[in-house]
Amino acid sequence: MENREKFLRNIWLWSLLFFLLAALTGLAYRWGLFTGDSFNLRLSNIRHAHSHLMFFNWVTPVPMGFIAFQFSKSVPELLRPMKWSIGTIMAIGFLSYPFFLLYGYHPVPVGSAELPFSVMLSGLVMIGWYWFGWLYLKYRNRVEKTLSLIFFDGALVMLVVSSMGAWGVAVAQFGNIDNNLISGALTHFFLTTFTEGWCILTALGVIYYFVEGDIEVPFDRNWLIAPIVLGAPLMFPFGLNVELLNESLLWTAKAGSLLVAMGLGVNFWFLIRALSKKVSPVWMFVFALLAIKVMVQLAAVFLPATLWLGQHGLRVFYLHLLLLGFVSTLYFVAIHSVFLKSPKIGLYLFVGSVLLLLSTLVLISGLWPMAWQPVNVYFWVTVGAALPSLAVLVELVLMYSRSDLQQIE
Ligand code: HEM
Repeated sequence: MENREKFLRNIWLWSLLFFLLAALTGLAYRWGLFTGDSFNLRLSNIRHAHSHLMFFNWVTPVPMGFIAFQFSKSVPELLRPMKWSIGTIMAIGFLSYPFFLLYGYHPVPVGSAELPFSVMLSGLVMIGWYWFGWLYLKYRNRVEKTLSLIFFDGALVMLVVSSMGAWGVAVAQFGNIDNNLISGALTHFFLTTFTEGWCILTALGVIYYFVEGDIEVPFDRNWLIAPIVLGAPLMFPFGLNVELLNESLLWTAKAGSLLVAMGLGVNFWFLIRALSKKVSPVWMFVFALLAIKVMVQLAAVFLPATLWLGQHGLRVFYLHLLLLGFVSTLYFVAIHSVFLKSPKIGLYLFVGSVLLLLSTLVLISGLWPMAWQPVNVYFWVTVGAALPSLAVLVELVLMYSRSDLQQIE
């Protein structure tokens, strides 16, 4: 294996390990709800530990690993510094995990002082993002100007913009600013720009990597990302508490959603035509999820807001459809498209487990009629939450034990 392949495989193995821990933490939340025993931890803290580890140590390092992998084709020497920056992000992200689990965002008593370690470590993770962004800029001009590169450019911008919201939350906490609208808006500005901007644009950048040569764009390529970059941050009011939302915030979010739907729709059109030449069921699964995502964006614009606003179950379903369904499955498919010789069992188990988990989330999303709910629905939801961990364990063991994985090119 070449150095860049070893690098990508290592990032994948470490990220899988952290995914496993985060997924088991999500399972602990479900277990706590189902049995009433949450291991003496607050459920909200378990959820914070789960979501932050997924963000810091899964949907950040894997795409960064892909970016470094792609760049290192022309600039092999960047692997070393990028390895350090991604490794540091993962180490600090992991360090923040016990603090989120035990204390959430609350300060930790240390002697006579109280320090909000989880907030402080999250700040350090973001400094790690800037470090990666700086390396990206340093080497960017030496790599081929591909379509993926445009998406990675946009994604990096979104990462930095989203971090502004997160710094704002930290400042609001330290400054004891007691305004629900401001702190809610800042939190959701971060969350939305990160998920809809960074996660989606890096995912599209990874897909374009595999179909690059097959796509002719008859207009300026920047238009492929412009509506998403402009629209994603505007969608933050969708996450706000219904009581905090007013007409102008709702219209802002709808405008953002329409822009993102148009941007994603255009990309979907180019990608599906290119990919249909190398059709495979797992790629089609990823594309089906992307199509659902575009439909959700349009539904948010045109359906009456009273139908879906403030529905917690629907929000959890949507987030997992996007981040576990589309984004995480794509990582699996992409890694297995790079390492063609890798055993595929982990990939297929993961796709199956994600389908089952998402189906159980539909049951509690509020969309499913109550009369059709199975008896003991939370038992099935808990079983569904356990399945991806098994698939990831299989993937981890198989990928770790094989060193003869071959790359496509
Ligand atoms: C192995 C699969 C996963 C399981 C079992 C799982 C489980 C859970 C559970 C039980 C919750 C709390 C739901 C509630 O509040 O009712 C949750 C929330 C959340 N999860 Fe996951 N999850 C998984 C994958 C992911 C992934 C891959 C991501 C992101 C990359 C993610 C991000 C989040 C976020 C951001 C929340 C907070 C939602 C909110 O209340 O705003 N999860 N997850």
